[in-house]
Amino acid sequence: MALLIRGGRLVDPATGRDGRFDVWVEDGRVAAVAPDLAARLPAEGGSVEVFEAAGCVVTPGLIDVHTHLRVPGQAHKETLATGTAAAAAGGFTQVVTFPNTRPVIDSPWLVEAVLARAREEARVRVHVAGALTRGQEGRELAPLAAMARAGAVAFTDDGRPVADAGVFRRALEYARAVGLPVLDHAEDPGLSGAGVVHEGPVALALGLPGIPALSEAAAVARDVALSALTGARLHVLHLSTAGAVEAVRRAKEAGAPVTAEVTPHHLAFTVAEVERLRYDASTKVNPPLRDEADRQALIEGLRSGVIDLIATDHAPHSPDEKSLPYVDAPFGISGLETAFPLAYAVLVQGGVLTLAELVRRFTVEPARALGLPGGRLAEGDPADIAIFDLDAEWVVDPSALRSKGKHTPAAGRRLRGRCAATFVGGRRVWGDRP
Ligand code: DOR
Repeated sequence: MALLIRGGRLVDPATGRDGRFDVWVEDGRVAAVAPDLAARLPAEGGSVEVFEAAGCVVTPGLIDVHTHLRVPGQAHKETLATGTAAAAAGGFTQVVTFPNTRPVIDSPWLVEAVLARAREEARVRVHVAGALTRGQEGRELAPLAAMARAGAVAFTDDGRPVADAGVFRRALEYARAVGLPVLDHAEDPGLSGAGVVHEGPVALALGLPGIPALSEAAAVARDVALSALTGARLHVLHLSTAGAVEAVRRAKEAGAPVTAEVTPHHLAFTVAEVERLRYDASTKVNPPLRDEADRQALIEGLRSGVIDLIATDHAPHSPDEKSLPYVDAPFGISGLETAFPLAYAVLVQGGVLTLAELVRRFTVEPARALGLPGGRLAEGDPADIAIFDLDAEWVVDPSALRSKGKHTPAAGRRLRGRCAATFVGGRRVWGDRP
């Protein structure tokens, strides 16, 4: 059935469109984009679904290059069904799921198995990042070429950074030969030690072991240098410190093939939230929430383009796990359903980016960084579309999240902007109204 999305403000940075446009969808693809397509309706008769988008913003479906769907093996934390329902509710139409699972996705068979299950169970398009080293143990390379042939779009040991620079160098050389990017959890495990929160006065006051800012900046400096040496594409995950932004800036200036992301939670929150919520592990995330000066550096990094894109690092855990004492609870925040409104509050309401620029950081830039399709709504493109009501105010209620992960420092926060509907290939996968 054809679909007409009528009367909305289309914000499509890839085509430069920003204004009142109707979008006509046929056979899962964008068939026409024009200021008024209502004249097509009578000819099509009653078989056209009409979505009234007046007062809403229509964008290409958002793309999250950093999602933990916990498949295989961790269904108590998330499943393809719950994780992609959360993605759809957040306006995401494509996600890249990460390999720090049980077992680790470090073989072509597991890449194929996750993709096959996603075709059965997922509401949005799912891509797979394979592990960089076998078992994410940082010693032996995983079979990168075979995983690429099986459909992996990138490689990462996220959650368990590769400590040995020689192994990381070989991994970059191999990934370069395969033609796929490495997604880099940049952290020096020795410096982080048993830390659980940002090192500083709050850690001291709460008696919690700290993770120094240098743990990230030092690792970023090493890894961008190895990217320059090998010529391999390196995407630095979840920047959290001013020092890391500076290291990426210098690497880009020197011409290294580096991209970088920031999460909505690092843009919106600081270690002050850890102090406020005390031993509530909703604030426990790796890298940790940092200082206000770091947060400002992240915002400026995004504004200036040093940081290319926004990604969620959606890292769901079960309520039981997150209820453990702070030092024992796992790191991770549930992020898919609050990502766009949180970023909108900080960046657009905060006067840092235009709406079109924000949308670009959730669509065009993630597609470019990982070489994924999508992020554009031109005639002929797949009809992957998000519709946001930016006037709708809502209060984040963790129990209402579709994800099995209910933990976020955004709990109780009043946000502006709700995803009203999401379409994948012209099929509605989310709607907050009938
Ligand atoms: O907070 C985090 N959670 N950081 C990571 O690097 C891994 C992630 C997870 O998988 O839970």
